[in-house]
Amino acid sequence: METRNQLKSFFTDHWKYLAVSTACKLHIFDHLIEAKTVEQLSVELTLNEDKLSLLLNALHNADFLDKKGNHYIANTLSVFLVESNPESLKYACLNWSEEHLTAWQNLDFSIKSGKSSFENIYGTPFFEYLNKNPEKLHAYHKAMYEYAKDDYKKLPDVIDFSMYKSVMDVGGSYGAVLEIIQNDNPSLECTLFDLEDVLKNVSIPKIHKVSGNFFDKIPEKSEAIILSRILHDWNDNKATIILKNCFKALPINGTLYIIENCGDKIDVDLSLLSLNMTAMCESYERTSRDYITLSKKTGFHFVGDITLNALQTVLIFKK
Ligand SMILES: C[S@@+](CC[C@H](N)C(=O)[O-])C[C@H]1O[C@@H](n2cnc3c(N)ncnc32)[C@H](O)[C@@H]1O
Repeated sequence: METRNQLKSFFTDHWKYLAVSTACKLHIFDHLIEAKTVEQLSVELTLNEDKLSLLLNALHNADFLDKKGNHYIANTLSVFLVESNPESLKYACLNWSEEHLTAWQNLDFSIKSGKSSFENIYGTPFFEYLNKNPEKLHAYHKAMYEYAKDDYKKLPDVIDFSMYKSVMDVGGSYGAVLEIIQNDNPSLECTLFDLEDVLKNVSIPKIHKVSGNFFDKIPEKSEAIILSRILHDWNDNKATIILKNCFKALPINGTLYIIENCGDKIDVDLSLLSLNMTAMCESYERTSRDYITLSKKTGFHFVGDITLNALQTVLIFKK
């Protein structure tokens, strides 16, 4: 009986996450760094007082808010969902609650057809969709930035970038990786390459911005290229085009760093993440052997790999 009851609660486990992401969307945690009553908050945010009361009560019961008398306040958990917190994960939280959720709700389409359910519903590939929606684009890249600040913080400890004069981050989003690298190597020439609409929102002192499309051409500007969390967004044909353009852009003996979750290098099961990539982008999480095979086909020599964190591996290639 207990197993059967566990199953029943499992069906609605996602309600808790959706209550939290709704609170992020309505900026509720941002407004509860000071304690407030439901009435005060409903006036401040122009929300329905009765329904807000239900939401705050649910957040309190889920341990996302503290309550003192009839006042609610953000606690040690939800403080990480406050936008002004330098360690905020507010946009990372929001990232999974809209288009990703819709794509997952239509996963059956992907399993039947092998195609992206996102593209089937929204009528356009994910990154093109973002480029047509400036607010969504900004929210997505803020989420990437929040993740990247944690994920890449050890990169300068495992790779010595001082051996280069120049490095380019291809598909570098809002520049978190280059900020981390340049902090350790102030004289390194750093170039951030991404789509024009993305780079319009970025201004980082001492980091050059070059906009373009990695399926057309990657500029010949750097001795080393970083491709981090890029290839997993694309199927083998598209990934091969990106790798070929990296090869063309590098000088002889230039270095390519591919940073990805490689299932064969970690103890984490990536099958759900792979389903997410399938639904969103018609792609999947590869093993290090898959990346090595793809890269060798485009002319690169594999040099070695280094563990970056519990999920990501750095695969090193030379032209
Ligand atoms: C999953 S994000 C990875 C961001 C960052 N490298 C990281 O590891 O956090 C993929 C990046 O590829 C960029 N991108 C997508 N299509 C692109 C294209 N055709 N040309 C250049 N960049 C592109 C996106 O704008 C985004 O910044």
